[in-house]
Amino acid sequence: MYSTPWMSDIVVGTMRWGAWGANFSTTQYEQMIEASFELGFTTFDHADIYGDHTTEADFGAALKLHSGWREQMEIVTKCGILRVCENKPAYRYKAYDSSLEHILKSVDDSLKALNTDYIDVLLLHRPDLLMDVEEVGEAFEILHSSGKVTSFGVSNFSASQVNMLQKTVPIGCHQLEVSTKRLDAFTDGTLDQCISDGLVPMAWSPLGGGSLPESVDVILEELSKEFDTTPHVIALSWLMKHPAGILPIVGTTNQVHLSDAKRALSIALNREQWYQVYQAASGTILP
Ligand SMILES: NC(=O)c1ccc[n+]([C@@H]2O[C@H](COP(=O)([O-])OP(=O)(O)OC[C@H]3O[C@@H](n4cnc5c(N)ncnc54)[C@H](OP(=O)(O)O)[C@@H]3O)[C@@H](O)[C@H]2O)c1
Repeated sequence: MYSTPWMSDIVVGTMRWGAWGANFSTTQYEQMIEASFELGFTTFDHADIYGDHTTEADFGAALKLHSGWREQMEIVTKCGILRVCENKPAYRYKAYDSSLEHILKSVDDSLKALNTDYIDVLLLHRPDLLMDVEEVGEAFEILHSSGKVTSFGVSNFSASQVNMLQKTVPIGCHQLEVSTKRLDAFTDGTLDQCISDGLVPMAWSPLGGGSLPESVDVILEELSKEFDTTPHVIALSWLMKHPAGILPIVGTTNQVHLSDAKRALSIALNREQWYQVYQAASGTILP
């Protein structure tokens, strides 16, 4: 049977570690992984496309230097976007591809790059409007029975797209953009579905990619004083208050910011505080 593997309460995002951001050396990858372990953040989020198909391999080079690390971590990665870049000369136009052939090839490439023989969670990165759910089901069955992938999930799907795919694939998690900058998931049915169907929700860009809306500045500042912390920490604890059990994927490249994120786990906002932030973020007053 498929099961959703355990994931840490805070997931560590790698998108900005390589060519799409900090351009870390292998030593810096090792340092960030080590710092994450020390904080108890053992789940790392990847995608085949990060760094134009280079970040998985950069991470894998660090992993190769530490024989015991792989068993101590959970690796999430994604497939399904054909992104036009120098490293993929065969792609001429951006497209989504959830064909059996593409998924299997993509996983083999990710395993090789990451220097591992299994992926804990494989996500379809974006909904492919041409998706054949039977074909995706077949691909996932092959990957699971060969031991290459432990469990499956999706990212950026609508609730109805998740319903459709659940007919052939046991989906364990849904990675969504959720933050004070992006509120849709609270009301579009996707977080409700995570609760009703037992999916683990992960929030990407939980700090709005580094820029939260100005409308929440005052209330985040006020609450940060009350809890003796930073506005960023309050923004993370605000997400974690939701009953779906949202796991924020922190995108920092800075060890101090990484360790700040841990403080969010010990802050419990009350309903009034939560709704104050929600109203400031949405620019609406509760009816
Ligand atoms: N599924 C998808 O479609 C999708 C899309 C995008 C991203 N993702 C995943 O989500 C992860 C997170 O996304 P993200 O990087 O946009 O997340 P984010 O955490 O919202 O944004 C990261 C940015 O915020 C800054 N930041 C973080 N903590 C800070 C703090 N305490 N004080 C000041 N600045 C702070 C970082 O700068 P510093 O580095 O200086 O801290 C960085 O520039 C990615 O790594 C990736 O794994 C998934």
